[in-house]
Amino acid sequence: MRALSLLSVGVLSLGSLAAGAQTAPGAMKNLVQKPAPLQVALTPPMGWNSWNFFAGRVTDKDIRAAADQLVATGMKDAGYVYVNIDDTWEGDRDADGVLHSNAKFPDMKALADYVHSKGLKLGIYSSPGPKTCAGYAASLDHETQDAQLYASWGIDYLKYDLCSYRESVMSAQAPDDKAAQMRLMVAAYAKMDKALKATGRPIVYSLCQYGWDAVWEWGPKVGANVWRTTGDIQPNWQSIYSILNEQAGLAKYAGPGHWNDPDMLEVGNGKLSLAENRTHFSMWAMLAAPLLAGNDLPNMKAEVRAILTNRDVISIDQDRLGREATHAYSDGEVDVWTRPLSGGAMAVAVVNAGSDRYSTHPFHLSLARLGLHGPLKGKDLWTGKEIRLTNDMPVEIGSHDILLVRVPSLK
Ligand code: GLA
Repeated sequence: MRALSLLSVGVLSLGSLAAGAQTAPGAMKNLVQKPAPLQVALTPPMGWNSWNFFAGRVTDKDIRAAADQLVATGMKDAGYVYVNIDDTWEGDRDADGVLHSNAKFPDMKALADYVHSKGLKLGIYSSPGPKTCAGYAASLDHETQDAQLYASWGIDYLKYDLCSYRESVMSAQAPDDKAAQMRLMVAAYAKMDKALKATGRPIVYSLCQYGWDAVWEWGPKVGANVWRTTGDIQPNWQSIYSILNEQAGLAKYAGPGHWNDPDMLEVGNGKLSLAENRTHFSMWAMLAAPLLAGNDLPNMKAEVRAILTNRDVISIDQDRLGREATHAYSDGEVDVWTRPLSGGAMAVAVVNAGSDRYSTHPFHLSLARLGLHGPLKGKDLWTGKEIRLTNDMPVEIGSHDILLVRVPSLK
């Protein structure tokens, strides 16, 4: 496996060599000898994670079914490739300190092989503390051993959740010193990064510590590809909307290889209305967030599948420029966000956070406040139809619904 990943790194280097045209004789040799760093998550990772629907009940069977469904529903073709096992897979350590999966996951290597056989990738979960958030064995003092174990199974993604590291290490070692506690936290994340890199396997490294100590400022320094910016998401509008608002100001920290993570998708979960599912999905795409579905794939309704596989919206999320949306302005209960896209295009999102439809007093979209001049032709990404944007045009949007428009290059 190691040989394989080094091989693919070699190919990457050759690719960049070809792109870089001005190559001195002999440089090729140097490049091949010195592989470029492993590059993962050049666009926000897409896939599915077990926690939001299954929580502690997840089994090997559910993971296989999720992999099957990603293929059968067309989600894989739309870009969803990671199948991530969250907490509660962990068993005990043996006399040599090697961690074993519990009875719900009888053979992790076989599971990884199965997921890979579908052209998908497998993710796993741990904590830098002695225990995970659900109280299972975690990686404290076994970081290298665990990283090697993941690589030997063929793991492609690690979510590393702070959990018991807070009480057992941070508070225990530096009870009255917040700054020292934060340094311990950063060191724990750096330690696992080193252990993962040492395996030679490209593994997406996802930090989960709820956004503490402005993780977006130091995440890239500890090798993070994604970092949670918030506490846990819930399948209701209040949770989704408050997380959305917390993202304002974080755009400058995101880019290819390192992304803000406002938590996994709840699309299709709880009692979210279709409008709420659409807005949630659209705004996570605007935020260049990882798109990790968290719903019951074998029982997914057609309308939920249509949302999750809307290619126009996915292409906003995956835009290769990698620039996250910023909040442009709010007027009453309506918020306007914009995202610059590659080739000079732009995405404009208008969210009605109010509980009523605007009818007698429709919202008026100010193009001037977005730095645009109308009229402009764009595409409404939920109707698929052309839309003409003019300055101060009245826009009617249902409660908790969204108007999402792609405006082609203005040049
Ligand atoms: C924390 C994380 C969740 C989930 C659970 C698992 O709460 O934030 O996303 O991973 O732990 O126990």
